[in-house]
Amino acid sequence: MTIGFAGDHAGYLLAAPIRKLLEERGITMVNFGTFGPESVDYPDFAHKLGEAVQKGEVDCGIAACGTGNGMAICLNKHTGVRAGLAWNREIAALVKEHNNANVLVLSQRFTSEQENLECVKAWLDTEFAGGRHQRRIDKIEQCR
Ligand code: RB5
Repeated sequence: MTIGFAGDHAGYLLAAPIRKLLEERGITMVNFGTFGPESVDYPDFAHKLGEAVQKGEVDCGIAACGTGNGMAICLNKHTGVRAGLAWNREIAALVKEHNNANVLVLSQRFTSEQENLECVKAWLDTEFAGGRHQRRIDKIEQCR
């Protein structure tokens, strides 16, 4: 499995610990940047990841910024991307179980690194429940 990562200057520090966690599980991580603390615009990196998920170049993704909201808003512009923000492990499990999020979005500024890593584990380890949740997901693209 290959997972893409994107972060802005307020999210990129999660890349290294997340890569370590993923590699321990035999998962390859592709980092779409940013790679340092210089101030950048989160859409530039969110769209790189969103495009890669949309095109199937990566299986799914993880994104991080200060709150997670900027990344989530941009990622959800991409067809087929369901980016869900999680700030604790329970929400991370539910965003897979109920929403089948194919991109997990994290907040580097408001959630600790340890909790963010627990979020990644919970999201990876949880199965989508299907059933009524699939029906709801099918309706997501039906915006008028
Ligand atoms: C950057 O300061 C911050 O606005 C960004 O990381 C993110 O939180 C936006 O949603």
